[in-house]
Amino acid sequence: MPQKVRKAVFPVAGLGTRFLPATKAIPKEMLPLADRPLIQHAVEEAKAAGIEMFCFVTSRGKSPLEDHFDYNYELNETLRKRGKNDLLKVVEDLQIESGNLSYVRQPQPLGLGHAVWCAREFICDEPFAVILPDEQVLGPKPCLAQMMDAYEQVGGNLLSVFEVPREQTNKYGILDIEKEDGRLVAVKGLVEKPDPADAPSNLSIQGRYILQPEIFDHLSRFETGAGGEIQLTDAMARLIGSQPFHGFKFEGRRFDCGDKLGFVLANVAYALERPDMADKVRTALRDMI
Ligand code: G1P
Repeated sequence: MPQKVRKAVFPVAGLGTRFLPATKAIPKEMLPLADRPLIQHAVEEAKAAGIEMFCFVTSRGKSPLEDHFDYNYELNETLRKRGKNDLLKVVEDLQIESGNLSYVRQPQPLGLGHAVWCAREFICDEPFAVILPDEQVLGPKPCLAQMMDAYEQVGGNLLSVFEVPREQTNKYGILDIEKEDGRLVAVKGLVEKPDPADAPSNLSIQGRYILQPEIFDHLSRFETGAGGEIQLTDAMARLIGSQPFHGFKFEGRRFDCGDKLGFVLANVAYALERPDMADKVRTALRDMI
């Protein structure tokens, strides 16, 4: 049985430039999907997968993320006095046990690999998950929980993957496939954002990872790759061969909520899944169309 994954890293230092002007003064991770911000969806997904300790890799202007998970005495007292116990429960359920939520700062935007490296002291020497909150999956079971089931079988490193049109391989990390077995894909190589002509497949890395701590040996070399950034994909590629490495084709629909269109579609899809919203949204959409 592989070592249990207890910790998760949430790289949330990005500027959100694809979503300007909405993200000029608000972190993109605070944009709401149905009734809760993207970061809350991501934290709930982690909790559903058994994660106990959470680390946000932040940057300037990201304090709303910290406030969102903090105790808000004034709000709680007001809700209590007004007898709004259902809402009180909603905000109380958000709480993460004291000491189990950490923040580290990524002082410069040097890449996703660098952001994960910033969390090395939080992770120490155990396997961990990485969740990119602007990617959301709507499925029968939360994406990271699906991955944990697969991780129990294969251990090592596991990446959520999905197929992209070949002309889009230059937007993603792409797998060089050794063998496919149902939802599991043995990986023999990884390339960050290859041109379609050079891409070894059209199977791309989505925003969920289970990684072994040896990744930090490679990240600490600070080698730059695609776009001049320190890429997580490059460090992972160096682990292949020394540890099990698999892609996992998750079950569900994936939404890129860091993109304007993806965000709108995600909001419609999530609202249609909510028992309290679905009927009204369906009727309103029919009327609009
Ligand atoms: C990052 C990763 C890439 C992955 C993608 C998923 O890229 O570097 O490998 O496929 O997330 O969205 P970014 O979107 O930060 O450029």
